[in-house]
Amino acid sequence: MTTATTRTTTAQRAVGTAHTRVEGRDKVTGAARYAGDIPFAELAHGWLVLSSVARGRVRSLETAPVLGMPGVLAVLHHENAPRVDSDHIGLLGVPPEPTSVVFQHDRVPHMGWPVALVVAETSEQAREAAEALVVHYESEPHDVAFSGGHPDVYALDGHMPAVTEKGDLEAELAASAVVVDEEYTTPEEHHSPMEPHAAAARWDGGRLEVVDSNQGSTWVADGLAKLFSLDPESVRVRSEHVGGGFGSKGVRAHQVAAVMAATVLQRPVRVVLTRRQMFALAGYRSPTAQRIRLGADADGRLRALDHRSVNLTSTVHEFVEPSAGVARVMYDADAHHTANRVVRLDVPTPTWMRAPGEAPGSFALEAALDELAEKCGIDPIELRARNEPERGPVSGRPFSSRDLLACFREGARRFGWADRDPRPGLRREGRWLLGTGTAAASFPAGAGPSTAVVTAEADGTFTVRIAAADLGTGARTALTLVAADALEVTTDRVRVRIGDSDFGPAMIAGGSMGTRSWAWAITAAAGELRERLALGTAVPPEGVTVRSDTTAAIGALAQKERHSFGAQFAEVAVDVATGEVRVRRMLGVFAAGRIVNPLTARSQFVGGMIWGVSMALHEEAVRDLASGGHVGADLAGYHVATHADVQRIEADWIDDPDPDDPVGIKGIGEIGIVGAAAAIANAVWHATGVRHRSLPIRPDRVL
Ligand code: MOS
Repeated sequence: MTTATTRTTTAQRAVGTAHTRVEGRDKVTGAARYAGDIPFAELAHGWLVLSSVARGRVRSLETAPVLGMPGVLAVLHHENAPRVDSDHIGLLGVPPEPTSVVFQHDRVPHMGWPVALVVAETSEQAREAAEALVVHYESEPHDVAFSGGHPDVYALDGHMPAVTEKGDLEAELAASAVVVDEEYTTPEEHHSPMEPHAAAARWDGGRLEVVDSNQGSTWVADGLAKLFSLDPESVRVRSEHVGGGFGSKGVRAHQVAAVMAATVLQRPVRVVLTRRQMFALAGYRSPTAQRIRLGADADGRLRALDHRSVNLTSTVHEFVEPSAGVARVMYDADAHHTANRVVRLDVPTPTWMRAPGEAPGSFALEAALDELAEKCGIDPIELRARNEPERGPVSGRPFSSRDLLACFREGARRFGWADRDPRPGLRREGRWLLGTGTAAASFPAGAGPSTAVVTAEADGTFTVRIAAADLGTGARTALTLVAADALEVTTDRVRVRIGDSDFGPAMIAGGSMGTRSWAWAITAAAGELRERLALGTAVPPEGVTVRSDTTAAIGALAQKERHSFGAQFAEVAVDVATGEVRVRRMLGVFAAGRIVNPLTARSQFVGGMIWGVSMALHEEAVRDLASGGHVGADLAGYHVATHADVQRIEADWIDDPDPDDPVGIKGIGEIGIVGAAAAIANAVWHATGVRHRSLPIRPDRVL
């Protein structure tokens, strides 16, 4: 470990240089196969049937007519499906999400709850039969109405923690020369990865093999082994190519249903979610209602900061969208309070979605900072500079590195911020009002234990095996660069194999921790292998293999406030006739550790910023209070930013290697979206003089 650490700091060759995706050719030629594409002999197809009531129980299912339909092989439901053991804790430290534990009882806790799986010879036959299946329900009154003022709002004991309190908030607010006290809301937002969830399961010589689309093959293998009470060695999950995940691709109903059907029928079964089913089964970002109170002296120095957020969860599982967490890192105040609370409703359980907490939390906090800057008559960047904390405001820990102000300086220079007239509503170009805005961004920089296996092959090449997942971000390519440097060879001699639980435990592609965690394990194994080879070990025909495990090294990391930071800038044009907001340009400058592959990293930052445009202006799932289901649960009804919404978006970074990481990585998966919506909302205020505290900033809200 030590040798690897010192080595990579002195000889960086591939890391930091642009490299096209190693699997790029396979992807554009169609040779890359995804979970829904991989052929199996004797493959049967499962189609999930989802509840059409929001609360109640299944009274009966009319299976006989469906079993007589062409090609139908089975109908699984709560009366006949295999029993599973859901009383366990998964690899990520939480019990399985109940919507994934299908067909175990007759209760229906939300609209879109899986009530049956119809299996047939073809996908079309399965679908037709699933749509013909009559299910009788006993329905009960439901409550799906979210508001921050819901009477049943509560804080979870011991959740990360739910509430932090320092100082006398009311006293500091009373003593403040300037106070901002506002409510901000963000809507329910949904996962829309290009590739819907898909899994094929089969029993092969006593082993369960699942070909899946996920963010961690050992994560899913562990979950399935525990649910089906199998020896972990007898479960193999492969996930070679993944078309996006963003937090939605863990253990879910489709894999569990596929395994049940493969077990019952003793033949391979695939289950693919439709885009509509994803609105109920893939998880989503909870709506939030946030109240921010800021109190400051006339010079902008914060005396009081209060950030309270409420999100919803289901009646079957607690999920917190920790939106107030961002205030615990960004700004200090003499009195500093934060709270994340939840309310249980008859809805599907929300889940992680790119920058959970930080994305909606930064919208509220960074918009409130802009309101404070306006009230104080201070430039928004200067206001942030005056409130730059020395240590973590809540943790009290030193920052591993914090270069937020350098991001603002570089961003302001490139964006042309110095020329900005701070007064709102002054710039007009025909029917368009123009404005600019800025916001800060941050996201935790963590690492999780992983194992890597690196082999020196007899032909002079090297094979790296690690159960990493490449969600389309370019992780496989980044790891190739890291391995090449650690082995001191060129990238063409390195082959990185990922997405196979047989490679051993590894961090998931999540929490912006994937590449860093895997790179650490690869660097450790490759460094040791290089030393062995340097000792003159001849490479035998089967190769020389070294395996690493970073559990101890990561456990020994000093307790610090570890984050990436960034500055977001946006210019908008607002149509005074239609209320349409156009984002004309955005610039994000990030301090996010060493950038492994500038080509794919830039795309990842820009992708996050585009999602920020989408969040600011378009995305909003609307729930029908009467039925408890969605209005327009598809990509026609649920708007995401399209090509025409994206004009000039640039992302760049400043040098910010993590001082404690063998490669200097911090992680870039999520920070691109953080602060992006606030920068746009702040620009809309600058254009129009009107504050928008509810997302999305729809034309009808602007007019
Ligand atoms: Mo991400 S929300 O950690 O997949």
